[in-house]
Amino acid sequence: KAVAVILMGGPTKGTRFRPLSLNVPKPLVPLAGQPMINHPISACKRIPNLARIYLIGFYEEREFALYVSSISNELRVPVRYLREDKPLGSAGGIYKFRDHIMEENPCHIFLLNCDVCCSFPLSEMLDAHRRHGGMGTILVIKVSAETANQFGELVADPVTNEVLHYTERPETFVNDLINCGVYVFTPQIFTIIQEVVLQGNNTVNLRRETSLEAFQSVAKVLPPEFVRLDQDILTPLAGKKKLYTYETVDFWEQIKTPGMSLRCSELYLSQFRRTAPHLLATGDGTRSPSITGDVFIHPSAKVHVTAKIGPNVSVSANARIGAGVRLISCIILDDVDIKENAVVINCIVGWKSSIGRWARVQGEGDYNAKLGITILGEAVAVEDEVVVINSIILPNKTLSISVQEEIIL
Ligand code: GDD
Ligand code: GTP
Repeated sequence: KAVAVILMGGPTKGTRFRPLSLNVPKPLVPLAGQPMINHPISACKRIPNLARIYLIGFYEEREFALYVSSISNELRVPVRYLREDKPLGSAGGIYKFRDHIMEENPCHIFLLNCDVCCSFPLSEMLDAHRRHGGMGTILVIKVSAETANQFGELVADPVTNEVLHYTERPETFVNDLINCGVYVFTPQIFTIIQEVVLQGNNTVNLRRETSLEAFQSVAKVLPPEFVRLDQDILTPLAGKKKLYTYETVDFWEQIKTPGMSLRCSELYLSQFRRTAPHLLATGDGTRSPSITGDVFIHPSAKVHVTAKIGPNVSVSANARIGAGVRLISCIILDDVDIKENAVVINCIVGWKSSIGRWARVQGEGDYNAKLGITILGEAVAVEDEVVVINSIILPNKTLSISVQEEIIL
């Protein structure tokens, strides 16, 4: 048997995701028409003998209650939300709930960060894990040497794939092979976390990494069971024949900013082209709107036949897209109203927002720049003929004049 655990974080994490995360927890922000965590959850469904999926986070229980019951019914796998009353770190959280996780007596525990986008080759990881017989297998990918320092970098034996060295976000370059935030472990992981807690090595590590003052201030708020998977567990386990890598040659991205959610929406839509083409819209402008590239349109959305949509567009429930509208590379959330002849490019349009006639709402399309895409928070109104370029608009604002490169609070 196997179980899967998805690390969700909580309201103090994912702050770069504002203003979208002001309305829903970051893991529920839609990518390619589905909440972010639907993608890893659907991938878990394909694990042989999967007994249960646990979501661990420090968001309020009620924020996930509806989601958890609907996804359990839809996939016919029990999904359960477990809440830490304060952040315990990426290893402390699973350790706290070890009795729940072990209830079904699993031989394998999959652990996934909620904010990564990839093809989740979980069965392949399990095969590799069984072959080398270690305690854990880490999904890894090669990235450019310039970007590697944003992630955990590791060195692996080219023949056995054993992890020989692991450093989290090193200041000097170690290797271009990085940790993707997707793992499979045997239950022995709990014994290892326990040793770290009992010996106090987690606090020793924190103390070493920060100044005395910084340490004293975090020590007051951090509980003694705060354990990080990367620094406190993976680093000391490297070179002990316990950790191995499985390298993906497919796509992988980390989703820390709204700009990256537009990029990841694109990756998931193109994955649908291969795995679930029925989810993608088709149309040539005769009886249905004209569609280019990969586009998702929720069945309840009303899109005018003269609208032109795509590539990389997802339109959520009850949205209304008027005549002559042009949408390119954008995420249109629930209940949005886009009036005649408006243009929306490289943009995320928040729930219940409206965009007026002949308005133009656009970003330049640099997913990594702070203002590289335009984001309208919930219930923003852009009036007729107004132009909004490379801007972030917080919820409930009405724009009656054009703006460029601005954050409207
Ligand atoms: N439940 C819970 N409790 N979840 C947490 C906590 C916590 O206290 N802290 C973080 N998480 C969740 C986050 O929501 C995320 O899904 C995951 O744990 C990892 O978050 P971080 O520890 O903040 O690390 P990161 O995302 O910056 O980097 C990690 O992932 C990268 C891959 O995306 C590291 O492991 C890197 O090495 C790795 O490259
Ligand atoms: P390129 O030659 O590809 O640069 O085309 P372009 O100069 O029209 O690019 P732009 O970014 O201005 O527009 C992108 C898309 O939106 C094109 O498909 C245009 O046909 C369409 N478009 C541009 N302006 C409007 C407009 O005012 N109304 C409508 N409905 N569509 C527009």
